[in-house]
Amino acid sequence: MEIDLGYTPQPKQQELHASPGNEILFGGAAGPGKSHALRFEALIWAMRVPGIQVYLFRRTFPELQKNHILPSRSMYPDGLGEYKNGDRRWEFSNGSMIHFCHCQYDSDVFNYQGAEIDLLVIDELTTFTEFQYDYLRSRVRSTRDIPSQYKHKIPGIICASNPGGMGHQFAKKRWVDFIGGAGLKRAPRPEGGMLRHYIPALLSDNPILNERDPGYIDRLDALPEPFRTAYKEGDWDIFMGQAFNFNRHQHVIKPMPVPEYAPLYMTFDWGYGAPFAILWHWIDSDNRIHVFAEDYGWNGTPNQGLRLTDSQIAERINHREEQLGIKGVASSAWRGRTPLIRNRITRAAVKAPARQRSSPSTASTLHRVIHPEF
Ligand SMILES: Nc1ncnc2c1ncn2[C@@H]1O[C@H](COP(=O)(O)OP(=O)(O)O)[C@@H](O)[C@H]1O
Ligand SMILES: [Mg+2]
Repeated sequence: MEIDLGYTPQPKQQELHASPGNEILFGGAAGPGKSHALRFEALIWAMRVPGIQVYLFRRTFPELQKNHILPSRSMYPDGLGEYKNGDRRWEFSNGSMIHFCHCQYDSDVFNYQGAEIDLLVIDELTTFTEFQYDYLRSRVRSTRDIPSQYKHKIPGIICASNPGGMGHQFAKKRWVDFIGGAGLKRAPRPEGGMLRHYIPALLSDNPILNERDPGYIDRLDALPEPFRTAYKEGDWDIFMGQAFNFNRHQHVIKPMPVPEYAPLYMTFDWGYGAPFAILWHWIDSDNRIHVFAEDYGWNGTPNQGLRLTDSQIAERINHREEQLGIKGVASSAWRGRTPLIRNRITRAAVKAPARQRSSPSTASTLHRVIHPEF
């Protein structure tokens, strides 16, 4: 039976609706029609497979209300079912439901402990934490009989998002970096084993909005960085919500030899159960800091350290500085450490004078160097 949903998808939205993937990330930029497409994707599946439970999430209730509940009530065609205000869900006459959900705090995900989610739809994924995503994904399961032609899609997950926000890194890692750009790739089994699909879209993919509101693009252009790049270009190569906004174009250069005149620094973020991080820097005559060597003490699993003793770390530093021909630079980094660590590491690591030393830069001077406009 054909049902007229009163919706004509634009090409990028159509790509989402036709995706063979079952763990999808749609978007990047602001305005291509992500939320609109998610709302109808939820409805399409609710109509296609009778009796399924679709859960549509935004992080907070006001966002959910404005972005999905109210539009669904005005846009979903009459006669398919009824919106139950108290339960915040659409109940359709074929037995399917669309539940409108939010989980503002990490622990709110436990409200969904008993849920059986046939289709999980998450809008603005990067506003969610990795824990929330993984927990909700664990609730995705189907006990009903899904027609064989839809088994690759249900149970499944469809997300949309701009870059930025606290979930930026995990979304980038799992889709954009893992797949290597637009396309599909099966996730390894320990990571859920689903068929991931990244569908990037730009504002230009939504001519309806461009026609209705031609000034929107100028307003995106007027955003300060890194929001402009995130929302206008849908570029995931930005850092948000962190002390420094890293931008590949601005902050990465081709390798070059360290000039003889340059002061050298080494910075050390101690770690045992968590990784330690050591960077060696030189500073040019314009006060720009160049990182030229790194020792990141992890065991290959994110956030897990090598569990090395201080003297083992010191030996590693010694060895590395010997290889680099700069032995002794390390000593400039120990001033702030607790006496125990400082003494142990200084004794083992610092045997030759650094080329030239002064106090390590504070975060605020570093910030000024990285962002000269501030
Ligand atoms: N296929 C479509 N048909 C009609 N209007 C659409 C369509 N896709 C998007 N729109 C409209 O374009 C505007 C922006 O879409 P939205 O989904 O909010 O974008 P995003 O979530 O990507 O920022 C909204 O007003 C939305 O209703
Ligand atoms: Mg949106």
